[in-house]
Amino acid sequence: MRNQIVAGNWKMNNNTAETELLLTNLTQHSIREDVSVYVAPAFTQLSQAVSMLNGQPIKVAAQNMNAAASGAHTGEVSSSMLKGIGVQTVILGHSERRSLYGETNESLKAKVATAIEDGMEIIFCFGEELSERKENTHFDLVKEQLFTALFELPSEAWNQIILAYEPVWAIGTGETASPEQAQEMHAFIRKEIEANYDAALAENVVILYGGSVKPNNAKEIFSMVDVDGGLIGGASLNADDFMVIVNAF
Ligand code: 13P
Repeated sequence: MRNQIVAGNWKMNNNTAETELLLTNLTQHSIREDVSVYVAPAFTQLSQAVSMLNGQPIKVAAQNMNAAASGAHTGEVSSSMLKGIGVQTVILGHSERRSLYGETNESLKAKVATAIEDGMEIIFCFGEELSERKENTHFDLVKEQLFTALFELPSEAWNQIILAYEPVWAIGTGETASPEQAQEMHAFIRKEIEANYDAALAENVVILYGGSVKPNNAKEIFSMVDVDGGLIGGASLNADDFMVIVNAF
């Protein structure tokens, strides 16, 4: 049985007061033991979140990190800085980082390599644009995203990897992939992992779906056999909504 995971990607939302309020509200809910829950605040709120969630069953993830260990990278943050404040997980490859900040499969490969080497857990995001789905090239595109950034890693590295399929056309649009579309892609991903590694690894890797997951559609999406949970944007900013999703398995 794979882990079930729900992670909230706060993006560039929640200052200190808002973080305090949201985390206070979240910690008032009980969380099932068979679901792992993460929140990913902005860099400036990570220490606050680590401190507020100390002893709570909610883990803290960063939204990005640099591939370099240190040096002349103005505005960037390294894995040792994250680990130093108690953050062990990082989201890499989010579509907004790809489209707005120029991240590529190659640059992500470097970030992944550093994160793995430094013992970080990675929530690795990927997914196609609407045009690619319309042209029916979405499977090829996803395969390439995974291949370049991840498929040269040794099998052991996959213990540190959580995948998050996020079709770009479903992010923040209110339009989700149908449960069948999510299932179809997740099954495809497992097939590719099996071809590149082996059946056991393919069966064990956790694959989240992200893109307009809301309290009213989470149950249906999470019921798909190859969907192990969700990476949640907008609905993670409201404690009640997020907790409905956490309990939607
Ligand atoms: P929404 O849930 O707001 O569509 O965002 C999804 C997302 O980008 C999570 O990383």
